[in-house]
Amino acid sequence: MLIEASNIHKTYKEAGYLLHVLKGIDLKIDAAQVIAVVGPSGAGKSTLLHILGALDVPNQGQVYFNGQDVYGLNDKERSLLRNSQMGFVFQAYHLLPELTALENVILPAMVKNNSRKTSAIEFDGVKLLEKVGLGQRVSHRPNQLSGGEQQRVAIARSLMNSPKVVFCDEPTGNLDSQSGAMVIDVLLNLNKISGQTVVIVTHDQAIAKRTQKIIYIKDGMLEG
Ligand SMILES: Nc1ncnc2c1ncn2[C@@H]1O[C@H](COP(=O)(O)OP(=O)(O)OP(=O)(O)O)[C@@H](O)[C@H]1O
Ligand SMILES: [Mg+2]
Repeated sequence: MLIEASNIHKTYKEAGYLLHVLKGIDLKIDAAQVIAVVGPSGAGKSTLLHILGALDVPNQGQVYFNGQDVYGLNDKERSLLRNSQMGFVFQAYHLLPELTALENVILPAMVKNNSRKTSAIEFDGVKLLEKVGLGQRVSHRPNQLSGGEQQRVAIARSLMNSPKVVFCDEPTGNLDSQSGAMVIDVLLNLNKISGQTVVIVTHDQAIAKRTQKIIYIKDGMLEG
């Protein structure tokens, strides 16, 4: 098992008012699984994804990632775990407009500042762009790419540090159904070919149906 969450609670305090967003979530995600998280707006999907992805601290409960107690780590250790083992793809692609597709993709490896040569990193970056079907768009800047292509660059970037899991929050939310389907094809293919674990938050039942497991969340609890 790659991820195990137990009894996750999350509350937000807003203007003295306590909002109980997650109310005791238990879930398990196997390695090499593609899993969809669905549910109505405001149900707590993004909040759950952030907690699974070591981006936000739960008020109660545990997340084990590869056997490691994520919220037993200090902030620095947790960042390291996140940066080395997890990739993220969001609804807005968050590409840097002044950088090319390749430069955007390799950014996480450049930031990591290890001793690898830039040429070796670039080689990997081109491979990743080829993997997401953008071998012919290496030098394009984001404003020269379609929305679906930009999202595929973001997927390639999320894979740069060889994460064990890629967390996707509404990755097709800004796309028409055809480009959205292509983005999902890319994610499913990564799983099929490389055994990549993928967690996809989506509103779209058609997308959810293509995954191996669906988690329904409503009012901060799992259903079904
Ligand atoms: N930082 C925050 N401070 C206060 N309340 C928050 C915060 N983040 C989220 N919430 C509240 O928590 C609830 C769940 O939010 P969340 O973003 O997890 O929902 P969601 O299921 O992802 O919804 P959507 O499908 O619209 O993206 C919402 O009611 C939201 O207003
Ligand atoms: Mg959300």
